[in-house]
Amino acid sequence: MFVRELHLSDFRSWRSADLELTTGPTIFTGRNGFGKTNILEALYYLATLRSHRVSADAPLVHSGATSALVTATVENSGRELTAQLRVNAEGANKASINGGPPRRAREILGILRTVLFAPEDLALVRGEPGERRRFLDELVAQRGPLLVAARSDYDRVLRQRSALLKTAAAALRRGGDQAASVISTLDVWDQQLADLGGQVTAARLRILAELTPHFVDSYASIAPHSRPVTLHYKAAAGTDVIGPGAATTPAEIGTVLLERLAQLRDREIERGMSLVGPHRDDLDIVLGSDTAKGFASHGESWSLALALRLGSVALTRAEGIEPVIMLDDVFAELDAARRRMLAAFTADTEQLLITAAVAEEIPAEIGGRRVGVDVIDDADGRRSVIVGSAAHNEAVPVSSVPVSPVSVSPVPEVPTSEVDAEGTP
Ligand SMILES: Nc1ncnc2c1ncn2[C@@H]1O[C@H](COP(=O)(O)OP(=O)(O)O)[C@@H](O)[C@H]1O
Ligand SMILES: [Mg+2]
Repeated sequence: MFVRELHLSDFRSWRSADLELTTGPTIFTGRNGFGKTNILEALYYLATLRSHRVSADAPLVHSGATSALVTATVENSGRELTAQLRVNAEGANKASINGGPPRRAREILGILRTVLFAPEDLALVRGEPGERRRFLDELVAQRGPLLVAARSDYDRVLRQRSALLKTAAAALRRGGDQAASVISTLDVWDQQLADLGGQVTAARLRILAELTPHFVDSYASIAPHSRPVTLHYKAAAGTDVIGPGAATTPAEIGTVLLERLAQLRDREIERGMSLVGPHRDDLDIVLGSDTAKGFASHGESWSLALALRLGSVALTRAEGIEPVIMLDDVFAELDAARRRMLAAFTADTEQLLITAAVAEEIPAEIGGRRVGVDVIDDADGRRSVIVGSAAHNEAVPVSSVPVSPVSVSPVPEVPTSEVDAEGTP
C-alpha cells in the first residue's frame, strides 16, 4: 500500500501541509527541529492511534489550537480509502472514512499499515517493560478496531479498580456496610478485569507467536555470527500459567487471572494497586540464554531493535499486506554495515518515507524524491512549511503553502550533494 495524499492541519509544528506522495522512496530533509518527524508521527498516529513519542494527545495539537486534523488517502492494491482523524487536545478523537459521518477513532485502524523505525527503538530492548508492551499493542492495533476496544475497556476498568483499591484499606478498617460494599464492588471489577485482560493478553500472545519466527530470521540476517535469539511473553501472573504450553485463549487466561486476583486480594489492598494483568506484563527478548535488557551490548541492542521492526514488516507481508515503511532519522544511529543492511532490506518497498537532517547519511542507492522542510517564524507564530521537492530525474510538483519571502526561499531542485551538514541548501 502507499499514501497518495497527506493533509495536516494544526498537527504539532504544522499549521497546514498538503503533500502528494508517490510510491518508492521520499526523503524529508531539513534542519533538526523543523518538523520532519512530525510528518511521520502523524501517519503513525493514523495507523495505530498512538504517537511513538508521547502518550497524551495534547502535545500533538499545534500550540494555541484545540484540535489537529490528519487526512490520508491510502491506495492498497488499486483500492483507495481516505482516513481522517481529528485529534482533540481534550476529549475523545473522531474519525471519518471517505468523508462519511463521524465515527469512533478506532474504526480507521487497518486502513494504513506501517512500520516505523526510529531512534527511540533502542528503548524496545533497553527500556522499561511499558515500551515492549506498547510495541506488541501497536502491532495488534494495526490489525483493526476489535482488540483495541478490549484494550481501552481494560484500561478503564483498571483505572476504576485501582482507584477503589487505594481507598479500600481505610474502608475495610471502618468495617460494616462500607467494607461489604468495597468487597462486592471489587468482585465485579475482578471479573471484568480478568475477562478483558484475557482478551488483551491472548491477542498479544497470538501476534507474538506469529512475529517470533520473522524476528529470529531477521536477527540472523543482521547478525549472522551472533547467538540465537527468541521472544517470550512474561506474564506478571506467572509464565508457568500464562503463555505457550499453559493458558493461551482469552477464556483460559481470564480464568487464570481471576484466580490470581483472588489470591492477591489482600496484598493488592495493602499496596493500593492492581498487581496482575496485561498492564504488568513484559516481553522478554532473549539473546543466547540471557534477557537482552541490561545484558546486550549497544550493537547487539540495535540489531535486536532492528530485528523487531524488520520482523514486523515480514509479519505484515505474511498477511499479504505491503506496509508503508518509515525511517525516522535512523541512518545517523547505525554503523555502516547496519545502514547497508537496512537500505538493502527496504530497497523494494512499495513506499518508503525517510527523514534526515543530512541527506548524505542516506545510502546513495536509496535515491528517491526529496522534500524540503523549513520553518517560518513571524507575527503568525512559528510553523513548519514544505519548501519544495525534487525527484532524481524529474521535478514532482507539490502544493506548498504560501511561503514567506523573509524567512524561506523555495528550492525547486535540491541535489543531495549540495545540502550541507546543517541540512540547508
Ligand atoms: N504542539 C506543537 N505546537 C507547535 N510546535 C510544536 C508542537 N510540538 C512540537 N512542535 C515543534 O516541532 C519541532 C520538532 O519537530 P520534529 O518533527 O521533531 O523535528 P525534526 O525535523 O527534527 O524531526 C520543534 O521545534 C517543536 O517545538
Ligand atoms: Mg526528527
